[in-house]
Amino acid sequence: MQIDGFSKLSKKAKIDWLLQTYFNNDNTARQILWQYWHNDKALQKLHDGFIENTITNYYLPYAIAPNFLINGKMYAIPMAIEESSVVAAASKAAKFWLDKGGFNAEVINTVKTGHIHFVYTGKTTDLIQFFRQNRTKILDSVAGIQNNMQKRGGGIKDLNLIDKTTAMSDYYQIEFQFETADAMGANFINSVLEEAADTLQTLAQKELSGDLQVLMRILSNYTPDCLVRVSVSCPVSKLKSDELSGENYALKFVKAVNVAEVEPYRAVTHNKGIMNGIDAVVIATGNDFRAVEANAHAYAGKSGQYTSLSHAEIKDEIFRFWIEMPLAIGTIGGITAIHPLTRFSLQLLQNPTAKDLMQIIASVGLAQNFAAVNSLITSGIQKGHMKMHLNNLLTFLQASPEERQRAELYFADKKVSFKALKDLLGRR
Ligand code: MEV
Repeated sequence: MQIDGFSKLSKKAKIDWLLQTYFNNDNTARQILWQYWHNDKALQKLHDGFIENTITNYYLPYAIAPNFLINGKMYAIPMAIEESSVVAAASKAAKFWLDKGGFNAEVINTVKTGHIHFVYTGKTTDLIQFFRQNRTKILDSVAGIQNNMQKRGGGIKDLNLIDKTTAMSDYYQIEFQFETADAMGANFINSVLEEAADTLQTLAQKELSGDLQVLMRILSNYTPDCLVRVSVSCPVSKLKSDELSGENYALKFVKAVNVAEVEPYRAVTHNKGIMNGIDAVVIATGNDFRAVEANAHAYAGKSGQYTSLSHAEIKDEIFRFWIEMPLAIGTIGGITAIHPLTRFSLQLLQNPTAKDLMQIIASVGLAQNFAAVNSLITSGIQKGHMKMHLNNLLTFLQASPEERQRAELYFADKKVSFKALKDLLGRR
């Protein structure tokens, strides 16, 4: 059903229209929306304002994974995620590495890029000369926008004309490189690019004989030069499981990671497990998980074949496991200062700089990956996963406290399945 002017309707009118159109005026649907409204009017208004056409809130569980030792500092990590087992797995991995030196993290670099994408129909040599002559003018035109960022140690670090005509006829870029200090920087970068593009267009009209048309001016969410690396290591002898000696465990673990390095089908799942941890902290700290996801997967595919973001080796009886990935996140700007839970998360993390947060987030990714591969090469993931899932299934079946107790006891030493649970509780 088409509707015009939906955005202009009040919240109540929006809901009325939805209920009438898609729910046969069923009041339970209205109840669901109401249940998730916040009683505190000011807080609800804050949430309404984050996006457009808000009709209620969508909650994610917010949990804590304690015992993370990162570069010698202890952290309790906030994680916002709907998937059971993820927080338990991260916590377990953190505890495992706690007495083995914890996570060693380093930020390799922090450069972000943005582009003015344009087409130019004249001679490339003319364009090169034009750019050389006008580079300073373009920079001067964005001086006002840069002011604040420069005070915080960021700003434009470089800009270059790039000839892309072999990829697409008449296509060029001006590629800007930025440092954005503790901000993710999207607004800053896009403001600079839009202003610089206007300057470019105006100058080109006056000085170039060929036609220059700006197509787009936008940051790139691919940041292969904004990288973080985190590793854990311990003597092989400290790795044993119930069935495997330390040496066999380490060998099997490394081989499992090797599979993700050479086989894209496995790499995607392997990296998905990493992103379970990464996204949960990214969301809890008010960062943009879509940007983080796109960036991570582009980086994983940078060689032309999608591969693992993490790697493992055994050298001189020492097992080492590490991750290297791009992370463009911030601890100021966006909703970081506006959303009360985001503020809470950052305070819990001891008010990290963006670099600190890159290190924390990547450590959680590595922990998550360690936990997943550990399960995969030993008991499998279903045992632990379904135990956690049992709770969700019981909720779905609206189990009574007595039924819950019976189910938990029954499945203590058995694999959980929906069918087995229904059989146990006599449900159809
Ligand atoms: C499930 O959300 C994530 C895992 O599949 C990751 C992996 O296989 O490495 C367990």
